[in-house]
Amino acid sequence: MFNIDTLTRKNIRELTPYSSAREEFSGQATVLLDANENPYDTDLNRYPDPFQKELKNAIADLKNVAADQLFIGNGSDEAIDLLFRAFCEPKNSKAYIFPPTYGMYAVSAQINDIEIVRLPLRENFQLPALATIKNEIKSTGLLFICSPNNPTGTVYGLAQIKEMADGFYGLVVVDEAYIDFSSSESALALLDSTPNLVVLQTMSKAWGLAGLRLGIAAASKEIIKVLNKIKPPYNVNTLSQAKGVEVLRNDDLVQQQIKQIQDQRKALRRALQATKGVRKVYPSEANFILAEFDQAAMVFRELQSKGIIIRNRTRLIKNCLRITVGTPQQNKLLITTLKNISR
Ligand SMILES: Cc1ncc(COP(=O)(O)O)c(C=O)c1O
Repeated sequence: MFNIDTLTRKNIRELTPYSSAREEFSGQATVLLDANENPYDTDLNRYPDPFQKELKNAIADLKNVAADQLFIGNGSDEAIDLLFRAFCEPKNSKAYIFPPTYGMYAVSAQINDIEIVRLPLRENFQLPALATIKNEIKSTGLLFICSPNNPTGTVYGLAQIKEMADGFYGLVVVDEAYIDFSSSESALALLDSTPNLVVLQTMSKAWGLAGLRLGIAAASKEIIKVLNKIKPPYNVNTLSQAKGVEVLRNDDLVQQQIKQIQDQRKALRRALQATKGVRKVYPSEANFILAEFDQAAMVFRELQSKGIIIRNRTRLIKNCLRITVGTPQQNKLLITTLKNISR
């Protein structure tokens, strides 16, 4: 049975959180002399809303999730770190990951002194069946499923995610940083029926706001309450909150860009498949493509020498490079350069 108290680290359970000035105040104030701010208006002389109400309402409207089931972090990397701090006991809990996957889960686990258990993806980067890993995922802690997965672009079905969550005693974190590029359904649909689920999304990818640092965690109210309790009081700055609301309320351009990137992903995949020296191009539901090359290290170096930077993933997956889908012009230049290298 799911019990938030038994999953929360003891020192966090017992913590009296810092209470910020703006948090205790709601209503119409005319004179603010509580937070030692400079009284002269600079547009930014006041501390930001610690709970980002307007931003959460905009996300809640768009994603069909209650605002009190949302946590906003300084990028989703902050949410990942806070999940470790709140729900993992060093030396006791474990972090389960399915490599090859996003590197921050292991880095964050190590920073927090949590043992990492690696359960490799199977052929074609599929998740192992629950039955085959049941005995290995017995500790509490965090189990990360990245879908679409970075760097493979693979998406995992909701039935499998649900089964995994029901078979695990800790929290299952589904990282959907790239979900807006995918045609598959978001795990947000599982939130109501899955108390130990956390869904991460970000405004860094499809929303075009990597520079703002806005990451989203959606979960039960109880889980969100714990994250709010331990976050730095003003973790999301005023400018980021305002710009985030503006972009969310006018999402036409973003939707057009997503469509364009999806079309380009298809074109780029075909072009790569027709390029000498490319052995295999994996299908992708994200804004990048993983491809296997005859001579990956050489191709990576040659592209780099011509000012084209892609991601070398050869240490994770033999002979593989990861290429972000760019504008039509950027993709064309990449393909022309690749063809010249492999001529
Ligand atoms: C799978 C995945 N999750 C999270 C992030 C980080 O997102 P943010 O910019 O919100 O910290 C990335 C960034 O590359 C990513 O690939």
